Amino acid sequence: MSYLQTACNAAKLAGKMIFSQVSTGIIAEKKSSNFDVVTEIDKRSEKMIRDFILEAYPKHSFLGEEESYGAEQPLSQVLQDARDVPFLWIVDPIDGTANFIHGILGFTVSIALACKGELVLGVIYDPCRDELFYTELGKGSFCNGKRISISEEEQAADCIIATGFVSTPAFREVNIASMDSIGKEFRSIRVLGSAALHMAYVACGRLGAFWQYGLSVWDIAAGVLLVREAGGMVTSTKGKVYSLSDQNIIASNSKVHSTVLNCL
Ligand code: IPD
Ligand code: CA
Ligand code: CA
Repeated sequence: MSYLQTACNAAKLAGKMIFSQVSTGIIAEKKSSNFDVVTEIDKRSEKMIRDFILEAYPKHSFLGEEESYGAEQPLSQVLQDARDVPFLWIVDPIDGTANFIHGILGFTVSIALACKGELVLGVIYDPCRDELFYTELGKGSFCNGKRISISEEEQAADCIIATGFVSTPAFREVNIASMDSIGKEFRSIRVLGSAALHMAYVACGRLGAFWQYGLSVWDIAAGVLLVREAGGMVTSTKGKVYSLSDQNIIASNSKVHSTVLNCL
C-alpha cells in the first residue's frame, strides 16, 4: 500500500469512529485551561492512527497532538530535529474538538508526512460531509477523487476568509484584534472551528483565505501542502515561506494574500 493510501485509510477509519461518537455524552477533560480540552475519543483516534501507520511502517516517526502533550522533549526541539528525520507522520486526531464536544458538525482528522522536514503528503478527512482531501508533493490536490484548486477571485471583497480561536490568551488577543481590519476588507469572516478544515476549504476554493495566530504543526501541516498543491500560497504572518515551526500563518488563493498581510 502506498504512503498516501495508508494515510487515507487511517484518516477514514478514525474519522468514522469519531463521527459515530458525536452526541454520545462524551466528557471533556481540561488540558491547560477551560479553553483547551480533550476527550477520550481524541486519544482513541490518535491511537488508531498511530497503530495503523506504525504497523505498516514500524521504523517511521510519529508526532501526534495528544501524545506530545506533556512529553519530555519540547515541540520546538522535535520540529528542529525533524530536518534529520527520514519519515515523520504529523497527526491531529480530531481537529475541532470543541465542535465535537458541543455536537457541532465541523471536525476533521489531519495526517501529514514530512521527509527530512519537507512536507510530502497531506490528508484531511471531514467525516461530517464524507469529504476526503488529499495531496502529494508535485501531484496536485484532490477531494473525493476530483482535482481541486484555489478560488480565482482577485478581490478580498469577493472572498470569504476564516480564522480560529486558540486557547493561549496572548495569541487569542492578537487574533481577535486582527479581525477588525480584516473584517473591513473581506466579504465575511467564518470561524468553522477546525484549522485543517479551513485549509482544505482554501485549497478547494470555498474560502479565499485563512489566517490565524498560535497554531500548532498538527493543525496545519497537511493543509499547507494541500493549499500549495492546489495553486495557493502559505506564509507566516510576516510573509515568510511557511516552515514547520511557524505558528502564525496566512493561507490563501495567493491573489488576496497581500491584503491579509497588509491588515496584520
Ligand atoms: C483547534 C482548532 C481551531 C483552532 C485552534 C486549534 P483542536 O484544534 O483547529 O480551529 O482555532 O487554534 O487548536 O484543539 O480542536 O485540535
Ligand atoms: Ca488542532
Ligand atoms: Ca486536536
